[in-house]
Amino acid sequence: MKKVITYGTYDLLHYGHIRLLERAKELGDYLIVGVTSDAFDKSRGKLNVKQTLAERIQAVLDTGIADQVIVEEYEGQKISDIQKYNVDIFTVGSDWEGKFDYIKKYCDVVYLSRTQGVSSTELRTSQHKFVNMAIVGCGTNSKKFYHEADNVTSVKINGVFDESTETDQWFSDIPDLTRYNTLEDSFKDNEAVYIDSLIDKRYELIMKALSAGCHVICTSPMFLKKEEAENAFALAAEKKLVLMEAIKTLYFPAFQHLLLLVESGIIGDVKDVEVSCSQNPKKYDLSNKYENCFYEWGGLAMMPIVKILGTDMKQLHIFNADNDEVGSFTRGIMQYDSCIGSFKVSKGYKSESTLVITGSKGYIYVPAPWWKTEYFEIRNEDLKETRKFFYEYQGEGLRYEILDFLELIDNSEFISKFTPNDTIAITEVVENFNCQKESR
Ligand code: CTP
Repeated sequence: MKKVITYGTYDLLHYGHIRLLERAKELGDYLIVGVTSDAFDKSRGKLNVKQTLAERIQAVLDTGIADQVIVEEYEGQKISDIQKYNVDIFTVGSDWEGKFDYIKKYCDVVYLSRTQGVSSTELRTSQHKFVNMAIVGCGTNSKKFYHEADNVTSVKINGVFDESTETDQWFSDIPDLTRYNTLEDSFKDNEAVYIDSLIDKRYELIMKALSAGCHVICTSPMFLKKEEAENAFALAAEKKLVLMEAIKTLYFPAFQHLLLLVESGIIGDVKDVEVSCSQNPKKYDLSNKYENCFYEWGGLAMMPIVKILGTDMKQLHIFNADNDEVGSFTRGIMQYDSCIGSFKVSKGYKSESTLVITGSKGYIYVPAPWWKTEYFEIRNEDLKETRKFFYEYQGEGLRYEILDFLELIDNSEFISKFTPNDTIAITEVVENFNCQKESR
C-alpha cells in the first residue's frame, strides 16, 4: 500500500484545497493529511487564521478524501511523521517548490501545481472589513506600529499627525506617508486611529477621535484620572466604537497561553503576582516628566496583576522611593481579598525584570525581560518537575494587538482581552500616583 502525506492549514476550505487533496490521493492508496495547530500557525507568523483547529479538521474530513488526519504541531515534525507512518510520498502545492527537498532523503517528494485564483488569504481578506488608519502622535511605538501594521492584511496606515513639527523628523525614513496638517484631517478618511502621544494629551485626543466617529487604540496608560476613563468608555459605547488600550505583551501567543494555564489551575490557587520592570538607559532626560518611568512602565507592569487577580482591588500602597516627579523607583502593592499583586518600576536603577506568579501547587517564572514573553517555566519544589513553554512572537509583536483591534471592530461578539474595567482599574492606580505627587 502506497502512503501519501500532505500538510496545510485548510482555513476556510476552498476549491484549491480540494483539488490538491484529490490529486494527492491519486498519487497512492492511503492519504494522511496534517492540519496545522493554532499555536504552530502563530509561531510561523500565520496570524489571522479564521477557523479553529477542530473546524479545519472537520472540513478536511468532510471532503471524504483523507484516510487519516493528524495535527502538525511543530517545526520539524514532518520527518518524524514520515518515519512514524511509513510514508512513501510527501506532497504539497507548487507554492512550496524546493522548500521541502530536504525530505527527499526519507521519501519521494512531489510538488503539485497550485490552483490559480483562490487562496485562504484572499477569502479571509474579503470577509474582513478593511480598516483605514491614521497615527496620531510621535511616541516611541508610533513607527513600530506603522511597520507592524504592514504585516496585517486588512489594515492600511494612511498618514500621521502630531502637533509638534517632529513628525517629519520622526518619520523621515517613510517619506511617502501623508503628514496631516490638522488633527481633523487625520480623522477624515480613516475609520480608526492609533494614539501614541504624550500622556497628558491622550484623553483629549481620544475624546476628539471618538467624537469624530473613529475607533481608537491608544498607548498605555490611556488616562490620568478614573473619571476620564469612564467618560471615554461611555462615549465609545454610545457611538458603538472600539476603544482599546495597547499593551502588546498581553496579545503575545506565549502570554495568552500563560493566562490559560493559570486559569486552568495548573499552579493551584494564585496568591501573589510579582512584576518588575527596570531599565537603565545610558541617556535619558530626567527633567522630562514624560520620561517618567511610572507612566512608561505602569500600565504594562499592572497588566498581569489585573489579568490574573482581577479588578476588585481592596487597598493600594504606592512607594515612590526618591519621592521625585519622575517616579524613578516606584513600588506598588495592590491588595485583594486574599491575594496580593506587587509591581516595581524603575528607570536609572537596574534589577531583574521578571514576572513571578505564586500558587498553591507551584509557580510560574517568566525570565527577564518578561514583557517580551516567549518563554516561561512552571516550577515547584522539585526543580526536576519544571515544565518549559516556548512560543515565539513575530517582529516587534504589535501585530497581535492590531489583529485583536481589527477583530473588535469587525465582530461585536469578539471579547476584548483588556476590558474597560481593566483599564479603569489601572487608571485608579495612575491617579493615586499623581495624587501622591501633587501632595508632596
Ligand atoms: N493549495 C493549492 N491551491 C490553492 C491554495 C492552496 O493547491 N489555490 C494547496 C497548498 O499549496 C497546500 C495546501 O493546498 O499544499 C494547503 O494550503 P493552505 O496553506 O492551507 O492554503 P492557502 O489557500 O495557500 O492558504 P494561505 O492563503 O493562508 O497561505
